[in-house]
Amino acid sequence: MSGSGGHGTGRDMCQHWRMTDEVTGAENGLDEARRQWSELNEMLSKAQQAYYGADAPTMADQAYDDAIRRLQALERQHPELASPDSVTQKVGSATVTDFAPVTHRQRLLSLDNITTQEELAAWLRRSGEGPWLCEVKIDGLAINLLYLDGRLEVAATRGDGRVGENVTHNVRTIDGIPNTLQGDNVPAVLEVRGEIFFPVAAFEELNAALVAAGKAPFANPRNAAAGSLRQKDPAVTASRPLQMIVHGVGERDGLDVTSQSGTYEQFAAWGLPVSPLYKVLETRAAIEDYIADFGEHRHDVAHEIDGVVIKVDDFSAQARLGMTSRAPRWAVAFKYPPEEVNTKLLDIRVNVGRTGRVTPYGVMEPVVVSGSTVEMATLHNAHEVKRKGVLIGDVVVLRKAGEVIPEIVAPVVALRDGTEREFAMPTHCPSCGTELRPQKEGDKDIRCPNSRSCPSQLRERLFALAGRGGFDIEALGWEGSGALLAEGLLVDEGGLFELTADDLLRTELYTRGAKKQEIENPEKAPVGGVRDGRVLSSTGEKLLANLEQAKNQPLWRVIVALSIRHVGPTAARALAQRFGSLDAIRAASLEDLAFTDGVGHVIAESVKDWFDVDWHVAIVDQWAAAGVRMADEVDESTTRTLEGLTVVVTGTLPSFSRDEAKEAILSRGGKASGSVSKNTDFVVVGENAGAKAEKAEQLGRPILDEDGFRKLLADGPDALAKPST
Ligand code: IVH
Repeated sequence: MSGSGGHGTGRDMCQHWRMTDEVTGAENGLDEARRQWSELNEMLSKAQQAYYGADAPTMADQAYDDAIRRLQALERQHPELASPDSVTQKVGSATVTDFAPVTHRQRLLSLDNITTQEELAAWLRRSGEGPWLCEVKIDGLAINLLYLDGRLEVAATRGDGRVGENVTHNVRTIDGIPNTLQGDNVPAVLEVRGEIFFPVAAFEELNAALVAAGKAPFANPRNAAAGSLRQKDPAVTASRPLQMIVHGVGERDGLDVTSQSGTYEQFAAWGLPVSPLYKVLETRAAIEDYIADFGEHRHDVAHEIDGVVIKVDDFSAQARLGMTSRAPRWAVAFKYPPEEVNTKLLDIRVNVGRTGRVTPYGVMEPVVVSGSTVEMATLHNAHEVKRKGVLIGDVVVLRKAGEVIPEIVAPVVALRDGTEREFAMPTHCPSCGTELRPQKEGDKDIRCPNSRSCPSQLRERLFALAGRGGFDIEALGWEGSGALLAEGLLVDEGGLFELTADDLLRTELYTRGAKKQEIENPEKAPVGGVRDGRVLSSTGEKLLANLEQAKNQPLWRVIVALSIRHVGPTAARALAQRFGSLDAIRAASLEDLAFTDGVGHVIAESVKDWFDVDWHVAIVDQWAAAGVRMADEVDESTTRTLEGLTVVVTGTLPSFSRDEAKEAILSRGGKASGSVSKNTDFVVVGENAGAKAEKAEQLGRPILDEDGFRKLLADGPDALAKPST
């Protein structure tokens, strides 16, 4: 593909959100900000602990509030600092709580994180011989349940690990958490640890209901779980489908087990909710498989997962390994790349698409999410911006789950400082200044009605018509389309085939600085000669050559290039085949069009509407006058040897390109299909054919090489039945 002018890559992706695979380096000042942040966060954490622990508060309310505000300001400047460890992000900071503090009998520990295979190997070596219990890391809220003689006495949030909040009344409403342990040998004292979560599917329903009721949606299932658990009215908690899964044990008296897995079995027998997903594994390879498997199926689980937790199974081995000040040495979290991060929404801009639709998109401070850097995300329409409640200047939650496109989820309202401003949808097209309006009353989308020469729309149409499914003008890509318009060389696509070397010499993109000998002997310069010390670049020359070639493209490509709504290559081929020329298509009645195989009413109407617009017809006339072939030559020698047959071509054939093979099938009345089924009549197999060839064999469909294909094209299926001579 040629350098700057080429097409064929996902231009949309580049325009709306740029992604690269490199991680942005720390900017200047970030280290200092990080240092200040750590200091403030630690100070505030300690103050919260003191407060919760019913010690004398270490900070006056005023000082506490000031420090919180400074921390928030830092996080606004550097949103990546606003991690879940921040006191600004902790559920219910100490200043606002209605839930009594509870001191856990044993501290709730944290986990050390690893992210690579090397770290995993090193950790496994340090941890001994195994076996290891692997389980998913649930992105929820840690909870501690204290059972005395088998009865749920107190349920408390994690808090700072030592002191949490009493949420017993609410926890009693959660399905699946027993108030009384079932069965025998119930211990006198038992602290059960686990995670409370909001199932993803139910979360989506809840948010839709909140929005419908005019309330703010939750940013993610984790926040929804926290919000649902910290309700003053247990009836509200009861109405939310919270669930719990246990993942550990704290203080116990009378628990007769010797391993983590033994604990889970015993817990399950008592009626506690144990995950069905845990496995006890003996080797590193098996653990790596477990991690890879859930990495791939992260979204097939009912709750959000942010990693896998690996624990030494045997309790005596756990005791030998012990713990550091914050985390056990016998367990570790293998974390997946985050799918949700915070970043600053710098601006909301709008993009005008091929059909004039005006789409707002967010421009953000670049952040890495799910392994790639993101700085733009579509916001779809003004209604969507309102629904999400985001303001320009907000710190926002940005999500990119797996391979899907990035999405701005919600603002972090707690981090607002009053400088944020509301987005207003423009009233006039940012590209051409025309007043915007919905196409029909009640449409959510608004459009620029200047479809003929709005530069944004025209650029999209040029880019599309030059694409591989259209005229296939390789030297006219996204950049090239922009360059021709910027120089005012086209008012619409009608002038495309009239472009001259002289025109292209006015663009930066299609020229280069002339060499000395070209300036002195202009006849040695490329076509068009020397102009202001510049000559055509090879891409410029190529564009002229491409345009010449494009004039002879088959009719279906011309039809695609017209940008008629709903008319892609398939419908265009059907129209070309049935009518043979653009004049005939234009003259056809609605019924004639609609009854064409592969066309139908919607497309027929769209074609009719298109030809009703004067400037559309003018494009056709202008192209025809410039020499674009507007009819397929009917080759009398081409007989319809493949009438009624479906042929699949797979792999590379020695002397047919993919398009040529397809053309050859279609022009003989056959159907070219992309997939092999029992209805396939012939499968043509070239070099490096893969699964389709295998499938053809499995289904017993006749397989042809290029020679066989030629025979089929020339003489039809009967010729193949006879032994070749
Ligand atoms: S074990 C002593 N197992 O992750 C071991 N924790 O980042 C401590 N979490 O505070 C926890 N799923 O709230 C463990 N399967 C799992 C978990 C899990 C989620 C949470 C837990 C912990 C935090 C540490």
